[in-house]
Amino acid sequence: MSKTGVLLLSHCGYSFIEEVISNAATRGLESFVLSSLPLSANNHRIQELQEKSAWFALSQTHALTWQDVEQVMQELAVQGYHIVCCLSVWEGYRTLMAKANQILGIADMEPAQVELLLNKYELRQQLHQVGLSQVDCVLLDEHTWANLQASSKPAFVKPVTGIASYGTFPLTADKSWQDIEKIQSEIATDLTYRSIFSANRGFMAEDYIAGQEFSFEIIAVDGEMFVVAIHEKVEIDESGSAVLENACVTPPIHLDEVQLQKARAWTAQIFQELQLQWGCYHLEARCYNDRWEVIEINPRVGGALISPSVSILTQGVSMTQLWLDNLLYQKPEEKLQQKARLANFDLGTETYQPSAMSSYFRVYFAKPGRISAIKQVNCCLEPDLVQVSLKTGTEVVEMAREVFLGQVLWAIPQNKTNELLPKLIIESRNAIQVDYE
Ligand SMILES: Nc1ncnc2c1ncn2[C@@H]1O[C@H](COP(=O)(O)OP(=O)(O)OP(=O)(O)O)[C@@H](O)[C@H]1O
Ligand SMILES: [Mg+2]
Repeated sequence: MSKTGVLLLSHCGYSFIEEVISNAATRGLESFVLSSLPLSANNHRIQELQEKSAWFALSQTHALTWQDVEQVMQELAVQGYHIVCCLSVWEGYRTLMAKANQILGIADMEPAQVELLLNKYELRQQLHQVGLSQVDCVLLDEHTWANLQASSKPAFVKPVTGIASYGTFPLTADKSWQDIEKIQSEIATDLTYRSIFSANRGFMAEDYIAGQEFSFEIIAVDGEMFVVAIHEKVEIDESGSAVLENACVTPPIHLDEVQLQKARAWTAQIFQELQLQWGCYHLEARCYNDRWEVIEINPRVGGALISPSVSILTQGVSMTQLWLDNLLYQKPEEKLQQKARLANFDLGTETYQPSAMSSYFRVYFAKPGRISAIKQVNCCLEPDLVQVSLKTGTEVVEMAREVFLGQVLWAIPQNKTNELLPKLIIESRNAIQVDYE
């Protein structure tokens, strides 16, 4: 066995580890996995990850710390292993990954840049100051909450640092400050997610951003950025205390050539301003009357089925693979090759080669209750990928965040998209059917 590999940081036994291990293997590399302790119901993940990786370590708690990563890097070195780079798709470990890469001499985001993107309040202020956002924001306490609720300006509430749409909702008259306190106590008992909020930056509110929502999947190589895909969110549900993002299509259906070019130029301005030179990004934004506003910039690959969806568009290269390659190929001639490949995917530019395929996926969320049956129903097109993450018998409790039930991905030949997509958007709502007791 080769002793050269990639250090992968897994959160509670997950974080797309199988996908990234297989990406590393296609580049002839082993995988060294460091995982935080899985929840007791998922203890089977320990053995599974042990079997799938060349080297495995487990931390004592549900969240990794820098000490854990540092210690593992030392142990691997002592045992004669060579780490070529570090990767983690879990947002809570993005700073640890950046620190590890800094030590390994691999070009990546700087830890301080990661921290800025994860702080939605600081990020909004910085973009506002240079005219790249028109949205006002405020940190929330009982006083600022009351002022905002008394004003007529529509506002949106979210944690300053958060994921999985935890506690994200429009500030309407029926909501109260106690709702925030309730969400905070829920976060405190959520063993998987609470570490994301441990910096305790509290909640913020900002102007409600109207418009159609898109996400930009971006790779930056040595100061040049490439928009590998734009996903249009064709269905969003704002009804609860978490905004659910239900269905996405790429290439987008509501942006014409001119709008694509404008969007591309706007993302380049943001990257220029924030000096984002290297890495993989999932930039979420809304477009209203031809004006773009950032929702957030994730310093990582997008969640749900974004990575395999990119793979359909590029006919074989997933977003996690592009991210790994970004860390692996940094020599001058390698960088040129990477840039040339990425330029073909880069929407809104002259080098863009239109894809032969479109991709559409839908995410299914669970409702509170005990699941008595889950079944899959056929649509007008065979799916490319079906993932169901909950089982019959599972008791789902009410949460202020997304509770994933499953997700399904379809690959649509470009020349059939106009005909099939409208049908699929409707039919796919019932592609996974769940009965509750
Ligand atoms: N200012 C805003 N105005 C209107 N809607 C917003 C605003 N901010 C966020 N949203 C909506 O709420 C969703 C979740 O917000 P955000 O992306 O900031 O949180 P998150 O927890 O990081 O989400 P995720 O990890 O699921 O992407 C957004 O995708 C968007 O639909
Ligand atoms: Mg988001």
